[in-house]
Amino acid sequence: MTAMATALKARPAPAFPVERIRADFPILKLEIGGKPLVYLDNAASSQMPQPVIDRMVRYQTTQHANVNRGVHYLSETATSAFDAARGKVQHFINAREDREVIFTSGTTDAINLVTYAYGRKFIGSGDEIILTTLEHHSNIVPWQMLAEEKGAKIRVVPINDAGELLVDEYEKLFNAHTRFVGVMHVSNALGTINPVKRMIAFAHAHGVPVLVDGAQAVPHIKVDVQDLDCDFYAFSGHKLCGPTGIGVLYGKAALLERMPPFKGGGDMIRSVTFEKTTYNTIPHKFEAGTPPIAAAIGLGAAVDYLSAIGMDAIAAHEFDLLEYATEQMNRIRGVRIIGTAAKKAAVLSFAIDGVHPHDVGTLLNCEGIAVRTGHHCAQPVMQRFHVPATSRASFAFYNSMAEVDALIAGIRTVQKVFT
Ligand SMILES: Cc1ncc(COP(=O)(O)O)c(C=O)c1O
Repeated sequence: MTAMATALKARPAPAFPVERIRADFPILKLEIGGKPLVYLDNAASSQMPQPVIDRMVRYQTTQHANVNRGVHYLSETATSAFDAARGKVQHFINAREDREVIFTSGTTDAINLVTYAYGRKFIGSGDEIILTTLEHHSNIVPWQMLAEEKGAKIRVVPINDAGELLVDEYEKLFNAHTRFVGVMHVSNALGTINPVKRMIAFAHAHGVPVLVDGAQAVPHIKVDVQDLDCDFYAFSGHKLCGPTGIGVLYGKAALLERMPPFKGGGDMIRSVTFEKTTYNTIPHKFEAGTPPIAAAIGLGAAVDYLSAIGMDAIAAHEFDLLEYATEQMNRIRGVRIIGTAAKKAAVLSFAIDGVHPHDVGTLLNCEGIAVRTGHHCAQPVMQRFHVPATSRASFAFYNSMAEVDALIAGIRTVQKVFT
């Protein structure tokens, strides 16, 4: 090793520039009831930085027209911005080709696309679909609707008391009837990071395709769909510092090509007569009607913004926040963290003895602190832990250690009010 290389290796990693990053987010300057906003509801929806807002305003004020079907300046400009956004998303998740990126309205829409288009063609009576106890309702209910219609069966992977999937039990669920696996990458209710790469490899060894619900992974860790080798991967723009109304379904081209369309209408066709309609190529086959153009361009700007900071730096900062918050919360008597997996993203679900989560949320709001309370669209997880609901603090890269302190002080205030 040269002297320079040794010196570089010894140099400490630069501190995460959280204050500079916070300055990019206008909403973080808000006060709620005279107290500075402490926004810890990022798993539900994250906030949007100024460059993303600016990009959408620029589109709306200087580039807006419908895409794909005009020869005039604005239509061509809008089309190239829309296409560029698809390319940005492709590189962000390392998809092999941009036609493997389908714009949807969100994770829910993306999963419904798969259950409808893939499921109705390839899953039939007596077939089995494997899901996990951790799933968000959006990766349960569409499969249940399919199973009910087709006479298929859903098998569920159990979790342990820490909120970790029992992978041995998962492997035991496979049999000759297994046709599909749906698994979330990161749990929105508990923060557990699931061993999806290993689960995908096992499913593939049995010839079974896998959909990964990545709604809570893509904003927090580097996701590489080729490395995971997943067949489908779904996520939402609004959890990724982008706008609402946009999401992504990644699908392997070979599978997408074998699937019938999900919705019918303009843009998804090659030719239409009353006798016969032929369909467009992917991704257009799955994007019927005018797409959410501004939202897609906003999502493209959001992935640019996150990439400039670096997903590894984001993950490291959020891990520090989680570690600090966990340590501080464990020191408070009468507070129990629900979800203590060895591998976790920055989500802290907790219960305070003798206080209903709804009251926790309401009192924290009086301190300017936004957390989510409820079942987090994961009722099977609540049932597993025998609670009706939890309070959940979920962090983003723009959260600071001072905000963790504010949360801890807020919890102590809640306890005081209730004693
Ligand atoms: C893990 C997970 N999957 C799916 C969804 C649904 O996302 P959307 O409402 O954006 O479709 C969420 C939203 O909270 C989620 O956390």
